Amino acid sequence: MTFNFDQGVNRRGTSSTKWEKFSPDVLPMWVADMDFAAPDFVISAIRERLDHPILGYTDRPESLNTAFQGWLQRHYGWEVEADWLVWLPGVVTGLNLACRTQIALGDRSKAMIPTPVYHPFLDLGQNSGLVEQRVSMAVLDGRWEMDFDRMRAEIDKQTGSLLICNPQNPTGRCYTTSELGELAHIAERNDLLLVSDEIHCNIILDPGTRHQPIAQVHPEIAQQSISLFAATKIYNIPGVSCAVAVIPNSSIREQYKEARVGLVSGIGPLGFVASEAAFNDTTQWIPELVGYLSGNYDLLREALGKRLAKLDATYLAWIDVSDLGLENPEAHFASHGLGISPGAQFDGSGYIRLNFGCPRATLDEGIARLKAGIDAAQG
Ligand SMILES: Cc1ncc(COP(=O)(O)O)c(C=O)c1O
Repeated sequence: MTFNFDQGVNRRGTSSTKWEKFSPDVLPMWVADMDFAAPDFVISAIRERLDHPILGYTDRPESLNTAFQGWLQRHYGWEVEADWLVWLPGVVTGLNLACRTQIALGDRSKAMIPTPVYHPFLDLGQNSGLVEQRVSMAVLDGRWEMDFDRMRAEIDKQTGSLLICNPQNPTGRCYTTSELGELAHIAERNDLLLVSDEIHCNIILDPGTRHQPIAQVHPEIAQQSISLFAATKIYNIPGVSCAVAVIPNSSIREQYKEARVGLVSGIGPLGFVASEAAFNDTTQWIPELVGYLSGNYDLLREALGKRLAKLDATYLAWIDVSDLGLENPEAHFASHGLGISPGAQFDGSGYIRLNFGCPRATLDEGIARLKAGIDAAQG
C-alpha cells in the first residue's frame, strides 16, 4: 500500500462543514466528504501554485482540458472534444444550469427525477421553475432499482428532461448496461434532455461492476445529454470547487453557457491546479482507496445485515431503519453520539445515510454508536 488510509486527521478547528455541524461528542458521518488526507500529488500542486503570491482571477488553463480528456480516455475509453467541455464551480451548479437550459431551449415545463436522490436534485424544480416528476425507486432482491414502467407511464408532453445520478447517491447503485439502455431509450423516444451526474464514477466497490458514462455507451443520446464530472469526490477535495459538464451538442452547450451569465462565479486558481493534478493521476490512489472503502463496506454489511441494501458504488451506506418508527432519526442517532443524514432529506423516509469514507478505527466507533442507537429504539 502506497497510501495510508488508517491515518486519522484531526479536522476540528478547520471550520469543516462535516465536523462542526454537531456537538463535539457526536461522530460526524453525514455529508459526502471523506476523512482521508488528499493525495500528496494534489497537495503539492496546490503548494506549488502558492509559491506565486497573487491569487488573482484566473482563466482555465488549456492543460486542464487535456488532463480531463486524458482521464476520461484512460478510465472509460471516452474520447471527448475540448469544445464540449464547460467548466463550473460545482456539479450542483451544473444541475441547476441544466434546468435553466431546458427552459431556455423549449416550452416543456417538467423534469423527471428518480428518487431517493442526492437532495439538491429535489430543489431543482423550485430553483428553476420546472415541475419535478419524482418517480420512486424500489428495493428488489436487496438492491435498489428504477421503475422504468412507471417512468414511461408518467412521461407526458410537458416532460422535457430526465435527471439521473449514476452512481447513485444515496442508494449506491451503479447502473448496468441494460439499465443505461432503458434510460437512453426513454430519453431518445421522448426527446428528453438527459442530465447525468457522474461525480461518484470512480468509487466502484463491487469488482464485478464498472461505471459507464451514459453518453459514451449510448452515442445515440449524446446530442441530447449533459454529463457532469469532478475530481472532488475521489480525491477528497470537495472544498476546491471545480467541476465540468460534457455537452456534445453545440446549441445546448451555448445555451448552457448563456445560463451562467451573472449567476455563476469563476473557478479559483487552486481549484484548477488541484483538479488538473488529480485528472493527471496514474498512481495507485484510486485502486487503493476503493479497496479500503470496500473493506469498510464489508464491515458495515456484517454489522447491519439486511438493513443495508447492496451497494455497487460510493462511500455512502443507505440504511433501512423504517421498523424503528423514529420521528427524528437525526436527533435520535445524535443522542447516541452519531451524526447521520436523515433519509427524508433525499425523499427516502425510513432510511438514514451514513458516510463510511473514514479510517477503520473511526468506522468501528461509528458502528458501535449506530448499533447502540438501533438497540435503544428497539427497546
Ligand atoms: C451525487 C452528487 N452530486 C454532486 C455533489 C456535489 O457536487 P459539487 O460540490 O461539485 O456541487 C455531491 C456531493 O455530495 C453528490 O453526492
